Amino acid sequence: MSAPQNKTIRHFLDLHHFDTATLRAILDDAATMKRNRAAYADRLRGRTLAMIFEKPSTRTRVSFEVGMMQLGGNVVVLKHDDMQLGRGETIADTARVLSRYVDAIMVRTGPETRLQELAAHAAVPVINGLTNESHPCQIMADIQTFEERCGPIAGRIVAWTGDANNVATSWVHAAVRFGFTLRLACPKPLRPPAALMDWANAEGTGAVVNMDTPEEAVRGADCVVTDAWVSMNHSMEEKQERYDALGPYQVNERLMGLAKPDGIFLHCLPAHRNEEVTDAVIDGPRSAVWDEAENRLHAQKAVLAWCMDA
Ligand code: CP
Ligand code: NVA
Repeated sequence: MSAPQNKTIRHFLDLHHFDTATLRAILDDAATMKRNRAAYADRLRGRTLAMIFEKPSTRTRVSFEVGMMQLGGNVVVLKHDDMQLGRGETIADTARVLSRYVDAIMVRTGPETRLQELAAHAAVPVINGLTNESHPCQIMADIQTFEERCGPIAGRIVAWTGDANNVATSWVHAAVRFGFTLRLACPKPLRPPAALMDWANAEGTGAVVNMDTPEEAVRGADCVVTDAWVSMNHSMEEKQERYDALGPYQVNERLMGLAKPDGIFLHCLPAHRNEEVTDAVIDGPRSAVWDEAENRLHAQKAVLAWCMDA
């Protein structure tokens, strides 16, 4: 589970690689950067970030690009099909070459082994902009959003309803590192892998528990989170099966009514309205999704600064 953080290059690959103090320091910086953008206008002056996209993106692409601009730096956006990577050049060679041009690399890719291979061969920091297995930058923004609205997350209850996908996995890592309870309501075949639950239980700092129903998970929760029922890595053949299994896991007003009265709703977006979440919830007063999307910018600026500080 836990590939150690490289000692000399500050990669940002997954939340469970970090200690709590480092993640907390990054979030503190994110809050300061949000409050006082002008003070950081030269923070990464002259630095360049390459972004490799092997999957589509709106928020990740724009928030990293604008974030680098706000810190005084530059970006190069690389789509898989426009690169020699798309014609068979290896990840390792791509990492070696990009490291000669840029100061950090953000990648959105499929299997996490591609991310790990890139990091293993890069001489500059590599940032995980989503893999099939995790989405750590998203959850940094989510924690920032929760704490802005509800105060410290330690000791609080977050309910995940849906399948245990990449975003859910990063929530598991975050529960352990930030010390909150994560209740997961997933159809049995779509529950988190045993290895992930074993890791969370062994760490013993947050509580990560599988619940039998979304109602059980959401009752008394401070935060309700869901995601699309079909992720970018799922095939069309899986689609109907997933829709059938996940129907009862929709976040609607009835389900939100079981959360704490001041409990909030989060979703990484893009949302599939009236599938995993109803219009009434995502557009309702308890939804924090637009702040959450904005906080991708602030959280990632702090991640970029941390990575390029070494
Ligand atoms: N939440 C998220 O990562 O959105 P994008 O796919 O638009 O980047
Ligand atoms: N679970 C989704 C997240 C998109 C930001 C996916 O991987 O498609």
